[in-house]
Amino acid sequence: MKKKAWDKAFTARYDLHETELKALFLELYPHQTDFDLFREMLYRAWTERSEELRALDAARMAEPDWYKKRGVLGMQMYVSAFAGDLNGVRKKLNYIRDCGVNYLHLMPLLDSPRGRSDGGYAVADFRRVQPELGTMEDLSSLAQDCHKQGMSLCLDFVMNHTSEDHEWARRARAGEKEYQDRYFFFDDWTVPQQYEALVPQVFPTTAPGNFTWCEEAGKVVMTTFYPYQWDLNYANPAVFRDMTENMLFLCNRGIDVIRLDAVPYIWKEAGTNCRNLPQVHKLVRMMRMVCEIVCPGTLLLGEVVMEPSKVVPYFGTVDRPECHLLYNVTTMASIWHTVATRDVRLLRHQLGQVFALPREYTFLNYLRCHDDIGWGLDYPFLWQFGMGEVPHKRYLNDYLTGRFPGSPARGELYNDDPRLGDARLCGTTASLCGIESARQEETYEKLDRALRLDLTLHACMFTLSGIPVLYAGDEIGQENDYGYHDDPMKAADSRYLHRGRMDWTAAEKRADPETPEGRLFQSLRQMEKAREEHRVFDGQADVWLLDTRDDSVLGIGRYREGEKLLALFNFADSERTVSLPDELGEYRDLLDGGPADKSCLRLPAGGFLWLICDFTTD
Ligand code: GLC
Repeated sequence: MKKKAWDKAFTARYDLHETELKALFLELYPHQTDFDLFREMLYRAWTERSEELRALDAARMAEPDWYKKRGVLGMQMYVSAFAGDLNGVRKKLNYIRDCGVNYLHLMPLLDSPRGRSDGGYAVADFRRVQPELGTMEDLSSLAQDCHKQGMSLCLDFVMNHTSEDHEWARRARAGEKEYQDRYFFFDDWTVPQQYEALVPQVFPTTAPGNFTWCEEAGKVVMTTFYPYQWDLNYANPAVFRDMTENMLFLCNRGIDVIRLDAVPYIWKEAGTNCRNLPQVHKLVRMMRMVCEIVCPGTLLLGEVVMEPSKVVPYFGTVDRPECHLLYNVTTMASIWHTVATRDVRLLRHQLGQVFALPREYTFLNYLRCHDDIGWGLDYPFLWQFGMGEVPHKRYLNDYLTGRFPGSPARGELYNDDPRLGDARLCGTTASLCGIESARQEETYEKLDRALRLDLTLHACMFTLSGIPVLYAGDEIGQENDYGYHDDPMKAADSRYLHRGRMDWTAAEKRADPETPEGRLFQSLRQMEKAREEHRVFDGQADVWLLDTRDDSVLGIGRYREGEKLLALFNFADSERTVSLPDELGEYRDLLDGGPADKSCLRLPAGGFLWLICDFTTD
């Protein structure tokens, strides 16, 4: 359609971005005709956007910080494990709301071959839901129900690769050059071997190497993740256009947050490590503009599991933003390091860096997700305490798998490559905190301590600015599921350890604080409500580290408009007393309302305190 005939609202937004969008596009894809096709695709996607979603866009544009409110609380879940299928999730929306959740991340649910799905991250059809989970209509209806309840819905957009069963891959395999050009095909191993010299491996044990021999095509194909996940070639304009259209298709089904899966990997170039290349940022910047033009109520969440210096650039700049949201991945890993070492110095150092970032940056804070915990810690910092990378990773893994004498944690290794000493770790929050072992031993003290640690970690996550995201089941302390060992389709991938079925019988105990489930659920609710009520938890608050004079106790201060919070977290195995005599004002315990003696603050082993002072009510 000619631009003149475009809808006014669309045109206004398009015009705002045209110069930059076009310039970036032509830098990567020099042909004007490709840009024209891209532009047409954008308009087509806009015409397919429902009035309802356009109204939501308008409301969100009027309040651009809608997702930064302190009451936003996320939950991440597998549809099948949580409620069987999409309609099951719809029926469970009341439970989700009872958890205080208003941002729901559903794990990949698009068509994916059984047994070769990587938990749904090998997509065979971006327009079709896995039949056992429901249909696209079910997904749209769920999104509508969520919107009615003020919840937003997040879905993965697995953009780095397709399943080998995707139509493009099938046609490529059959020899169609046009489709081979959508992937990375090589006649022999010469070039792949050159890549291998510089490109690290994502799954060194479960899927070694970055290339796979494709028998039918008689060629080598690039497969950074599993051999059945074929990397897309974004240097081909048709790939970028069609994949962007697939993303907009999901946005038009009512998805509010698009998780850009494995985004640092999407551009490959020989002679590099194929991670975080400048072209990746150009693509993400264009996708951000695309959303602002077609579906401005949509947010981009980048999955950048990298060290902080690589993560932050994905926010882009104030003038040229890229992602709205990013994972606070190093903080997450540093928290588990602290659990294993009882030493807060690394976490303090890490948080110091996060607190120094602009407040506009919104992180998703989390303790556990569907993936393993990778030990991407600041090793140069740890070196000053004599902790070397390989022995330290071994220690963390020994502790968190419970092999270290006296450790109550129960986890399993992931991609253990003894040559590299680089194993990662799996397990649920509850099992890693010692709840599972304490319940097996039936020791009340240990269980009490483990539950306290679990709550302390959550409190620590809630104390940070950004959006806290619970991993479904953590709200009732769900333990590891060892059943995957007996399933031949899952046995090789220990991430299934923490992807077990939701235990609804256990969830029924959530109202009874005498049960472990109830103690966790009720305490989390109490913290979440406090977080929502108090402006000190605003993303705009000042945040800093407190000097606790104890390397086992982390202290965080927050201040916002006359309200001040002192948060203390004891990672030690014993009770600790902290004194903060220099803090002005009278403090009370935020959760139980009791008075606090600043010169003698007692923290039980693995416990925390939230103290508040309101300077405006004196
Ligand atoms: C992301 C996902 C992970 C998946 C990978 C490949 O890292 O979180 O689960 O295996 O991408 O798509």
